[in-house]
Amino acid sequence: VNHLLGIKYITKGDIDLIFETADHFKEVINRPIKKVPSLRDTTIANIFFENSTRTKLSFELAQKRLSADVLSFSAAQSSVKKGETLIDTVNNILAMKVDMVVMRHSSPGAAYFLSQNVKASIVNAGDGAHEHPTQGLLDSFSIRERLGEVGGKKVVIVGDILHSRVALSNIYALQMQGAEVKVCGPKTLIPRYIESLGVKVEPDLRKALEWADVANMLRVQNERLDFSYFPTTREYTQQYGVTKELLDSLDKEVVIMHPGPINRGVEITSDVADSQQSLILDQVENGVAVRMAVIYLLASKIK
Ligand code: CP
Repeated sequence: VNHLLGIKYITKGDIDLIFETADHFKEVINRPIKKVPSLRDTTIANIFFENSTRTKLSFELAQKRLSADVLSFSAAQSSVKKGETLIDTVNNILAMKVDMVVMRHSSPGAAYFLSQNVKASIVNAGDGAHEHPTQGLLDSFSIRERLGEVGGKKVVIVGDILHSRVALSNIYALQMQGAEVKVCGPKTLIPRYIESLGVKVEPDLRKALEWADVANMLRVQNERLDFSYFPTTREYTQQYGVTKELLDSLDKEVVIMHPGPINRGVEITSDVADSQQSLILDQVENGVAVRMAVIYLLASKIK
C-alpha cells in the first residue's frame, strides 16, 4: 500500500517498522547536521483544508529533514475559494510532478476518497472525526519511550470521543500493540459504537485515573460541538478537567498526554500541562521523527 489512510488499515508489523525507523530518525535529528539526503528526488505537497499548527509544521519539517522538495497549500488562500473541486485541485498539483500528498480535511473519508481518485501516495493528516493516523503513531511512540513498551499498559482517553479523530487512531494503535483502552467523558460525547471496539467506558474521572498508567486528555473541540447537548465548559471542567490536586491525591503517577492545542484550564490546568508527568512536548518532538519514518517508508515504495 502506498498510502497511510488510517491505523485501521495497517498492521502491528507496520507499526513496529515505523517505530524502528523513527528511532533512527530521532537520533539523526538530534545530531548537529539534522538532514539526510534520502528523499532528494521526491516532491511532497501538504494540502490543508483545516487549520493546523503541529501537524502541518511537523510534516513540513520531517520532509525537509529528509531533503524532499516541499509545497505547502492552505485551502483558505487557494482557488478552492473560487469553487475548484478537491480532485481538480489535487490533479493540478500533481501535474507539477508531485509524488506524495499529505492532506487534512474536515470530511471523514476524504483521504480514502482521494486515494481512489488520483495517482499519488496519500497520507491522512486528519479527516474530520475519522482518523489522525500519525497522531496515533506518535502518541504510542511517546508512551513506548516513557514507559518502555505499549503492550500491557492501561490508557484512558478522556473527553470528547465522539468528535475525535485522535481517539479512534489511538484506540486502533494501542489495541494493536496490546494495550488496554478505556474512555471517560460526558455520556453525550461517547459514541454508542465504542464498546463494540472492545473499549470500556468509565464515566468517573477519578476511577479512570486510578486505573490508568496513561491519560490522554482530548481537546474540547468547540468548532465541532452542538452546544444544545454539550455540558457547559464549567461543568465539563468540574467533572473531566485534570488538576494537580487530583493527580497528587492518587497513589501513583499517571502519565499525562494531550494532542494539542490545549484549552488551558479546561481539559488540564497549566501546572499539569507543564509538569514532569506531562508528555505533551515529547509528543510534538516525536511527531517529526515518526512522520519522517512514515514518509520515508512510503516513498521507498513509490520509487
Ligand atoms: N495535534 C494536532 O493535530 O494539532 P494541530 O491541529 O495543530 O495540527
